[in-house]
Amino acid sequence: MPLSIVILAAGQGKRMNSDLPKVLQPLATRPLLKHVIDCAHTLDAAAIHVVYGHGGEAVPQALQDEPVSWVLQAEQLGTGHAVMQAVSAAGTIPDDHLVLVLYGDVPLIRRETLSALVAQAGPEAMSVLTLMLDDPTGYGRVVRDAAGGVARIVEQKDAGAEELKLREVNTGIMAIPARRLRGWLSALRNDNAQGEYYLTDVVAAAAADKVQVNALVAPTVAEVLGINDKVQLAQVEAEHRRQQAEALMRAGATVVDPARLDVRGKVSVGRDVYIDINVILAGEVRLGDGVKIGPNSVIRDCDIGAGTEVFANCVLEEAVTGPACRIGPFARLRPLAQLAKDVHVGNFVEIKKSRLGIGSKANHLSYIGDAEVGAGVNIGAGTITCNYDGVNKWVTQIGDGAFIGSGTMLVAPVKIGANATIGAGSTITREAAPDKLTLERSRQATVEHWKRPEKKKK
Ligand code: UD1
Ligand code: CA
Repeated sequence: MPLSIVILAAGQGKRMNSDLPKVLQPLATRPLLKHVIDCAHTLDAAAIHVVYGHGGEAVPQALQDEPVSWVLQAEQLGTGHAVMQAVSAAGTIPDDHLVLVLYGDVPLIRRETLSALVAQAGPEAMSVLTLMLDDPTGYGRVVRDAAGGVARIVEQKDAGAEELKLREVNTGIMAIPARRLRGWLSALRNDNAQGEYYLTDVVAAAAADKVQVNALVAPTVAEVLGINDKVQLAQVEAEHRRQQAEALMRAGATVVDPARLDVRGKVSVGRDVYIDINVILAGEVRLGDGVKIGPNSVIRDCDIGAGTEVFANCVLEEAVTGPACRIGPFARLRPLAQLAKDVHVGNFVEIKKSRLGIGSKANHLSYIGDAEVGAGVNIGAGTITCNYDGVNKWVTQIGDGAFIGSGTMLVAPVKIGANATIGAGSTITREAAPDKLTLERSRQATVEHWKRPEKKKK
């Protein structure tokens, strides 16, 4: 059956004690709801509807680029009412579709589990994702009939003493045939302990209509964990961290301490990658074969070539490095830094929008911005490309084999010829000829009869 997904995201999340709507709270820096939408997209659904309400337009605005349709639930009258908003809007969900209900605050749900759940539903069957808990407090309980089929779900607040003892609970995630669902929703009543329209009541309605209700017990607890407060948010973050580190290790990376690696995006690793502690990998990161990442480094949207070593305490963003580079400790690569093979970038060196050719080195205390640096260039300590005049950014060109002495100011736009040597301490404002020594330095003088002032004795 074609699939329509409905994600419930209208609830308030009072216990967050936050101005940010619950489903926008960040997990690995992405909104909770974004994780659910991303998972929904892996399911090949005809449409994804997100029911929003609390927090108003902030939710669709924050996720406006997502290819989903937004359905407003102006008042939060219960989960059944929420699904009704998506299902009843004329023509949104065709009768022959299967409706998969997800929660915007259950972010670790896995594609495999949802596929299995969907496979257990059909035109005359619905399925419910359940969970076995030692302490089921707070959850809706799954009541089974004598034959073991699901008869109904009773909410904690409406349950009798015997029902409260049931350990199988409703995760809230269900797959329901649309044509049937429409009828059951329109018959929902809110004469219960919370005065809400419960989605869970469709289970009893299905049973009454002799529609099969299948239960799938969630294979892992983590994937159905809902988030209500900051404590649970941190717990789910820890679980997410563990899963991501595990995936890298399974792909062959050595992760010194999985609890101290944060993957906040998509990371691919080659063979024999080594990642030390307290590393954050964000956005899209590719680590080639044999790459080593030292402790306390932050790497976002980078492509790190094979055999490159990033030493401790580096920050790399939108940079591309060739193979066999040595970066850091304490180096910063900013957007559009491009290092060719065998480039060395040492401590307190910042590189922005610049290309460094094969084998070039900037080992200490330099700023290189908007520069085209050839191969085999040596940039001495304290060299600065003065690329900004307050309005415009200007380019510095440095030819192959040039040697830039320490403490040089390269006032752009400026060009240094191939194999040129620049004397230390120079401020270079005009083109420096290739193969020659250029320096700009006032002559050193010694003042013969000068005496230091002395303190007068009292
Ligand atoms: C719901 C289930 C319960 C299940 C539990 C799992 C019902 C009646 N109960 O209970 O059986 O064990 O989830 O966590 O379904 N929402 C809306 N609009 C509303 C109400 C809720 O969008 O009007 C959304 C919330 O944002 C949330 C989800 O639906 O993402 C669940 O709502 P919540 O209030 O947490 O449901 P529970 O009462 O915990
Ligand atoms: Ca000078």
